[in-house]
Amino acid sequence: MQSVILWYLLCCVLRSAGYIAQNNPQSRKTAVYCHAYGLKQLLKSSRVRKVGSGEDDVLNCWKKKKTGNEKYTTSRMTEFREDGFLVLEHFFTAEECDSMRNQIQKIVAEMEVPPHCRTEFSTKEDEQLQAQGSSDYFLTSGDKIRFFFEKGVLDEKGNFLIPKKKSVSKIGHALHAYDPVFKQITHSSKVQELGRKLGLERPVVVQSMYIFKQPGIGGEVTPHQDATFLHTEPLGRVLGFWIALEDATQENGCLWFIPGSHTSGITRRMVRAPSGTSTCVEFVGSEPGYDDSQFIPLPISKGGLILIHGEVVHKSELNSSESSRHVFTFHVMEAKDTSWSKENWLQPTPELPFPSLYT
Ligand code: FE2
Repeated sequence: MQSVILWYLLCCVLRSAGYIAQNNPQSRKTAVYCHAYGLKQLLKSSRVRKVGSGEDDVLNCWKKKKTGNEKYTTSRMTEFREDGFLVLEHFFTAEECDSMRNQIQKIVAEMEVPPHCRTEFSTKEDEQLQAQGSSDYFLTSGDKIRFFFEKGVLDEKGNFLIPKKKSVSKIGHALHAYDPVFKQITHSSKVQELGRKLGLERPVVVQSMYIFKQPGIGGEVTPHQDATFLHTEPLGRVLGFWIALEDATQENGCLWFIPGSHTSGITRRMVRAPSGTSTCVEFVGSEPGYDDSQFIPLPISKGGLILIHGEVVHKSELNSSESSRHVFTFHVMEAKDTSWSKENWLQPTPELPFPSLYT
């Protein structure tokens, strides 16, 4: 863009020179051509940026329109309200995605996991209770950068059966607070701008995760609502930001949603269990059986962002392809007039109170 502006300014200079050399028809012709070409390139560049840049897209998409009853709506806001999710293609640049991927490579290279902390990650309820709920490693990870692994990658003694860098399922839950790259992305001006366009007044970041969805073994994430795990009073105050760091396809495990499923509350909660019980968390209620035909896939290209309403039902399939599906995701709560459940597994701590998104 800068080079185009410089080109345009150069053309203007040439154009002026052309006017000065009015007695020379060839100079004038050249100058007019340069001016026209420069302007054309500038406009062309603006159009491309408008379509290709997430930030501009968002600004355009969320343009407010006042109606008679004082409510503000936009077509994309309406889409989000109706579906419970919203796809914003090309929100982040390829360079921003690569910076996150490079950073996670460094973190994984330096990873040291004590054997007693090698907690396998699962989304199946019984296994969650057994593998996560019984583990202090998971329960106290809200203000730390910790590692969770795919199923079947560890033997009974906790030794890796495959290279550890190919075994990691996710890293959570405070990259947004303690890692400079992920902190910058989370609090980037384009994310903050989107928050304002969404009408968030006091958004705070409650957690973040880097999800690997490893080729061949990246596990399924069963149908769920995020508010099952991140409960607020009232509901409807939690929002997920899901950033594709490489193309997410049906083959490598893109997200699937039930459009409009965010309007009937939640059916299940994961709460901290009373002390003295065998697990640290337990489920209240149950997830209903969903018909596969209710779900629609949302493939998205690298750099795309999917906004996820806290109550919308979504899932992802096992990655049986040879391509990974890396994602950085974080959750935001509108803190104004909202209470965070003390029964949630995740709690703010003196070391890390939930930070404001707008810092
Ligand atoms: Fe989710």
